[in-house]
Amino acid sequence: MSNYHIKQLEEYFQVYRKSVNNPESFWEEIAEEHFVWRKKWDQVLEWDFSKPEVKWFKNAKLNITENCLDRHLPTRGDKTALLFEPNNPKEEAQHISYRKLHEKVCQMANVLKDHGIKKGDRVCIYLPMIPELAFAVLACARIGAVHSVVFAGFSATALSTRINDCDCKMVITADGSYRGAKTLNLKSIVDVALEDCPEVKSVLVAQRTGEKIDMVEGRDHWLKPLLDKAYSDCTAEVMDAEDPLFILYTSGSTGKPKGMVHTCAGYMVYTAYTFKNIFQYREEDVYWCTADIGWITGHSYIVYGPLANGATTVMFEGVPSYPDYGRFWEVVQKHKVNQFYTAPTAIRALAKEQLEHVEKYDLSSLKVLGTVGEPINEEAWHWYNNNIGKKKSPIVDTWWQTETGGIMISPIPYVTPTTPTYATLPFIGIQPALMDEKSNEIQGNQVEGRLCIKFPWPSMARTIWGNHERYRDTYFAAYENKYFTGDGALRDAVGYYRITGRVDDVIIVSGHNLGTAPIEDSINEHPAVAESAIVGFPHDIKGNALYGFVILKEVGQSRDRDNLRKEINQQITEQIGPIAKLDKIQFVPGLPKTRSGKIMRRILRKIAGKDAKNLGDISTLLNPEVVKEIKDNAL
Ligand code: PRX
Repeated sequence: MSNYHIKQLEEYFQVYRKSVNNPESFWEEIAEEHFVWRKKWDQVLEWDFSKPEVKWFKNAKLNITENCLDRHLPTRGDKTALLFEPNNPKEEAQHISYRKLHEKVCQMANVLKDHGIKKGDRVCIYLPMIPELAFAVLACARIGAVHSVVFAGFSATALSTRINDCDCKMVITADGSYRGAKTLNLKSIVDVALEDCPEVKSVLVAQRTGEKIDMVEGRDHWLKPLLDKAYSDCTAEVMDAEDPLFILYTSGSTGKPKGMVHTCAGYMVYTAYTFKNIFQYREEDVYWCTADIGWITGHSYIVYGPLANGATTVMFEGVPSYPDYGRFWEVVQKHKVNQFYTAPTAIRALAKEQLEHVEKYDLSSLKVLGTVGEPINEEAWHWYNNNIGKKKSPIVDTWWQTETGGIMISPIPYVTPTTPTYATLPFIGIQPALMDEKSNEIQGNQVEGRLCIKFPWPSMARTIWGNHERYRDTYFAAYENKYFTGDGALRDAVGYYRITGRVDDVIIVSGHNLGTAPIEDSINEHPAVAESAIVGFPHDIKGNALYGFVILKEVGQSRDRDNLRKEINQQITEQIGPIAKLDKIQFVPGLPKTRSGKIMRRILRKIAGKDAKNLGDISTLLNPEVVKEIKDNAL
């Protein structure tokens, strides 16, 4: 029996037991047999959740790109590593072999070195989904620079905050990006962001859209001529197992975004192992994850996990609706995709369209369907299962987080029987716990509580960049000796988990995590606004949409309300990005507050969700009278 590739349910239970009863020897065996190391570890695991401190494969030395690239060259040199499918279907797809990818990554690594980037330096990558994005990520890893990829839909302000938070020395970007029929000038966003980022010394610019951009002399360089003359070999930097590999920002319920730090060895082992099993990847398969590399899903399951397994991974530049709603299925047919991994919001959007967009295409290559990012509702699950999987491809509903680095709770296809809306069983090595309000672990089945993880797993984030205290407070303070996920979950009669959603002030809109506080801060900066509160409400396609309750200042009272709504959304777009725009804005005379001044979001959530019949006891509020007023004028 190979513990690396699980093929039967009995085997899953056996391996799971082993991974829990003896985690160190279990992970040691996986690490030893399936990866290349420059030096092996002295100790498999050292941990203390009270600090919190977690070290996997202590003192081991490696480079993740040797595992993702070099070791495949003798056997898979000509195999397609990256299959790039452009935004415009008329533009030819690019099949980039392992040999070519290795060469491109080495060239890019040499360019970075030529610009003074060394091991440990932070590099911000703000690129569309073009091959250069994968080259840049891997080039950083090659030389031990820490990449911080910022999703190219974020605004200049969001970008500069992220650049400054981790002191990036360099930004890698493109002239522009294609998103369906639209073109976005990325470089101009970078130019604005960099007005606030004095530490950035160089900007490398990939050419994609060919539009006119400004180049700042001495700072900005076109990437292509530099790549063309760079050496195509670059010795991999020897990294410690616990050296940072990347920083990726995620929204918190309060304050500025959290730069989650992932380290080299544990992240590599866990993303590779989960990829192999949860997608049941086989050598000839073509795997496609539709996420953007700007999110953790893209890091772990477009780049590192697939490449560590020598897989062919599709990288898609476009959107599901361009040139029409059949695009995903056209690509599946064209590249004979075997594993397809997307978000419930995309499924819901496509399910609304004519079925002929699906039926036109041959989807018989599909073997596994995945979803991630938010709970999948039953209707979307069935649509996906019936129309895309034709009831033959198991759906893996994968629950995990930026912080967890890899998939934590998920069926293994063809192994775990699936149930709609359930992420089912913990993956190998993962020990979930449901907690009650008194901080006790809830035993048994058919129970519901707050989801924690009670034992370390290799790909967990090790800290928040520059703020270890916040890391401890956010994840390890709520429950002693446990990692708290921020999610609620239930465990059914057979022990399957269903994620019920966030229990904090993070709202998931179209699969993107949005913290309420930064959006409120942005609204409050509008000169006409005194105070605001944001809550989520159910939305057919996005899962949740944002509802803002806004108190105007005196100066705002006489202003046109529709114009104000536009200005507020414009402000959010500029400071955060269009993904954080509000669907509804209600101007209110006050916000329901407790006597200690805390906004009662529970009440606002009910009003926004049109569920205001039973608001519970509001008599203890500081200002119960505003509730009726808000309710009567709800949008
Ligand atoms: O609430 C959970 C939800 O997404 C959150 C994590 O978001 P992020 O860090 O952006 O990572 C998303 C991609 C891994 C979780 O706390 N979530 C993620 N996957 C699922 C989910 N909720 C329900 N079911 C899922 N499969």
